[in-house]
Amino acid sequence: MNSSERMNINLEKGRSALLVGPAKLMVIKGALSIFGATLRGATSFAAIAGRQYPIVALEDSEFVISLGIGSRFERFDRDPIPSDWRAAAELISRLSGTIVVLGDVDAGKSGFTLYAANALISKGRRVAIVDTDVGQSDIGPPGTIGMSILDKQYPSYPDVPLTDAYFIGDKSPVGHLLPMVVGARAVADKALALGADVVIVNTTGLVHGGVAAALKYNKIENLRPALIVALQRESEIEHLLKPHEGYFTIARLKTPSHVAKRGREERAEFRSLRMGHYLMSSKVVTLDLRSVTLLNTSIGYGERDAALESAIAAVAGCAPSSATKDGKSVTVTFDILLHPAAFSRTLEMLKASFDQARVICTPKLRGLLVGLLNFKREFLCVGVLDEMRISDGKLKIRVPISDPSKVKYVSMGYLILDEYGNEVASIRPGEI
Ligand SMILES: Nc1ncnc2c1ncn2[C@@H]1O[C@H](COP(=O)(O)OP(=O)(O)O)[C@@H](O)[C@H]1O
Ligand SMILES: [Mg+2]
Repeated sequence: MNSSERMNINLEKGRSALLVGPAKLMVIKGALSIFGATLRGATSFAAIAGRQYPIVALEDSEFVISLGIGSRFERFDRDPIPSDWRAAAELISRLSGTIVVLGDVDAGKSGFTLYAANALISKGRRVAIVDTDVGQSDIGPPGTIGMSILDKQYPSYPDVPLTDAYFIGDKSPVGHLLPMVVGARAVADKALALGADVVIVNTTGLVHGGVAAALKYNKIENLRPALIVALQRESEIEHLLKPHEGYFTIARLKTPSHVAKRGREERAEFRSLRMGHYLMSSKVVTLDLRSVTLLNTSIGYGERDAALESAIAAVAGCAPSSATKDGKSVTVTFDILLHPAAFSRTLEMLKASFDQARVICTPKLRGLLVGLLNFKREFLCVGVLDEMRISDGKLKIRVPISDPSKVKYVSMGYLILDEYGNEVASIRPGEI
C-alpha cells in the first residue's frame, strides 16, 4: 500500500508490521508496542516522513492509519525487535551509569536507543537519552547534542522533550572533536545530576577513518560507559571496538535486515525539515555586542589598534569596522562586502606582518547557525544570524524565543542556512 488513504487494520496478538511515515496511527482497540512503547486504545501516534516504525500487537488490536505521500504499511512475519536487542535492553536494565551506542549510518542506533529507553521505563528505571548525532538529531535541533530525561515511554522521537543541549553548530563532528567530547560528557553528567540512573548515549555514524577513531576512542574514554552497544551489519566497526576489548564491556548486536537505509539527500532533507520546524515561530531579536560574549570566533577578542585600522582603510579603500590584535594574530572586520580585489589586497598586507590574519565581511555571516546560552552557560536555543554590525555594536538573530534578556553567550556555528532552514553554505573551522 502506498497512497494517501485511511485504512482499518486488525493485528492479532503477537503479530507484527512495519510502518514508514509520514502517517498517522490511531489505536481503537487492544495494545500495540512501537519501539517498545505501549500504545493503548484511543491514543494516536505520528510517524515522521522516511522513518520506519516496528509495530508489535501486545493484544488482539484494531487501529486506523492515514498514510501520507511516500508512506508504507506492511505486515511483517518476524519480530521486528530482534531477540539480541531484547537481551541487551534486559542487560542494560540491570546496569547504571552511561551506555554508549555505536554503529555506522542506518545501523539502527536511534531505533535501538529508543527501544532500550522504553524497555527500561517499563521496569521503572529513570532513563535519559543523549543524542550526539549532530547531523541526524533525534532530540533537539540539528547541530546540537540533545539530552532528554524521559518522563514516560515514547514511540517516536519528535515528542521526546528536550531537557538540555550542547551547541556544536555543524552537521558533522569533523573539525569539532573537542566540543563533541566535552559536550557529550557535559550533558550526560547533567542527566545524572538531574536524577537519571541510566544514560544512553547515541553517537554519529562517522565510523571510518582516523577522525572517527579519534572521536570514538576519546568519547568512550571520557564517558567511561558501563556498556558499549555495537550495532553492525557485518564487522564494520570492529576497529573501533578493539581498543576497548577486555576493558569496557561490549554487547555486539546485529542490524536486522529490515532496518532501512536512507540516501544522503534524505538525510539532508530530514535536517532541513527539522531546522525549518524549529525556526517556524522565530522572530528577530537585537543583542548588544557589549553585553554578550561571542564564542568560537576571534571577533570581539584581542586589542583594538587604531593605527592599523587607518592603514587598512588606505589599502582596502574603506574603513574596517574593527581591527584587533592578539599576539601574532589579527582579525579585521568590515560591515560591508569588500570587492574581491580589495579583500585580497587587505589580506596580503596583513599576512606580511602577522602569522595569522582573518578578514571577515560580516554580511557573509548572514544565515549562520548560532547557539544562545544564558549566564550559567546553559543552552537556550539555536538561532540564525540575521545581521552583525560591529560598527554600531549590534547583533540581530532570528530565534524561537521572545525574551533576549537571558542571552549572555552567542556561540558561532558553521552552517549557513536560508530562511527555510536549508543549508546553502558553510564556514570552515577557524575561518572566523
Ligand atoms: N528494530 C527496528 N525495526 C524496524 N525499523 C527500525 C528498527 N530499528 C530502526 N528502524 C528504522 O530503520 C531506519 C534506520 O534506523 P536508525 O535507527 O535511524 O539508524 P541510525 O540511527 O543508526 O542511523 C529508521 O527509519 C528507523 O526508524
Ligand atoms: Mg540515528
